[in-house]
Amino acid sequence: VILRVPGDKSITQRALLLATLARGESRLRGLLGSADPRSTAAALRALGGTFGPLPADGRELRVKGLGLGGLRSPAATLDLGNSGTGTRLLMGVLAGHEDLVAVLDGDASLRGRPMGRVVEPLTLMGARFRSLQEPDRLPVEVRGGGLGMFEYDLPVASAQVKSALLLAGLTAGVPVLLTEPGPSRDHTERMFREVGVAVLTHVRGRGRRIELRDPPDAIEPLDFEVPGDLSSAAFLLLAGTLGLAGREITIRRVGLNPTRTGVLGLFERMGARIEVQGVQGPGGGSVDQGSEPVGDLTVRPAALRAVTVDHADVVASIDEIPVIAVAAARAEGTTQIRGAGELRVKETDRIRALAVNLRAVGVQVEELDDGLEVEGTDAPLRGEVDAFHDHRIAMVFGVLGAQRGNRIRVRGAEAVEVSYPGFWKVLETLREQR
Ligand code: S3P
Repeated sequence: VILRVPGDKSITQRALLLATLARGESRLRGLLGSADPRSTAAALRALGGTFGPLPADGRELRVKGLGLGGLRSPAATLDLGNSGTGTRLLMGVLAGHEDLVAVLDGDASLRGRPMGRVVEPLTLMGARFRSLQEPDRLPVEVRGGGLGMFEYDLPVASAQVKSALLLAGLTAGVPVLLTEPGPSRDHTERMFREVGVAVLTHVRGRGRRIELRDPPDAIEPLDFEVPGDLSSAAFLLLAGTLGLAGREITIRRVGLNPTRTGVLGLFERMGARIEVQGVQGPGGGSVDQGSEPVGDLTVRPAALRAVTVDHADVVASIDEIPVIAVAAARAEGTTQIRGAGELRVKETDRIRALAVNLRAVGVQVEELDDGLEVEGTDAPLRGEVDAFHDHRIAMVFGVLGAQRGNRIRVRGAEAVEVSYPGFWKVLETLREQR
């Protein structure tokens, strides 16, 4: 079976932001047309952007840029829906705009997530924020402008925080010098280089130093194809490994940015049979490269064994830990996942959600402060689980339920719309193959 996955969610959102800030017209292909990027796109239109609807089929979208600093105050509250990336990156962009005032809000899940991690450093840079309900939470009012040069050590390895600060520096025209404790995804740095912005990065200890020393007055438009989302492909890698289609599955043109591929290493350590082929664009481990590497993944059914997952593994596979935890339920032995405290502040508390749902279908799990212990089993797994309004929780239990012999009902299955519209159809197609 040969498949494509929808465009990368992180890269799509960055492309929309930078295209709106560019001088000239950008041409974007392969954008993800799901709920999260649609929320970001709608916010950008409310801020003055004029581009059309996101094509659902990867066709080209042209975006006329407004120039750096070209956004204007919106007439109404910006509703970012479920999108943490959209919210936090936009906070940085808005903070960098003189005289701009906006209120950001989101759905119940997003309202439960911490915003202080972005608000605090942006406040230190000079922007003004006001929590309209609870501290550290949406809704938040931002007043942009007055930013100065900024040097900051990120307390957590977070690409959203890093990107918000770099975008604030870019829009305000002030230098930003950062260190991060671990190598979080570097799509923003790569895309900055695509639009002509020099960002220097070098390895420092276990993490990195990132320097935007000389932000330009204008950025170039993008001519760019968004690769398939490895985080979406991860569900199909699990499906292929569990033998859902009864044969191999190939997924074409998946983004293989080395800051994202931790899941491939974890699967390999578990004994999965995944082949990477046809890699194009920059690859390898260097952090000083422009664009995004892509390649094809082929996965064959395999027997899995337990694995020990530490904090460094988690940073490199942050959104794929649910996939690994569910793979662990089908592996021989006990899997330990530690250093994964960040999972508690994603679209839902994913540690809790995984523990509750795995138990509900008959898997033995220990919930730890910062992770999970999962006892593998080959017994049939049956029961009802809850997506907890989290797209990735919905999908991972969808895959587990589709394995022969299992029967799992997923409550809130529509959550997949956030990142992978059509997911349930793809799963059905795979089942029909066997
Ligand atoms: C993202 C960064 C990660 C990831 C999220 C997307 C991004 O979050 O979990 O799905 O696009 O920058 P953190 O930066 O909070 O770790």
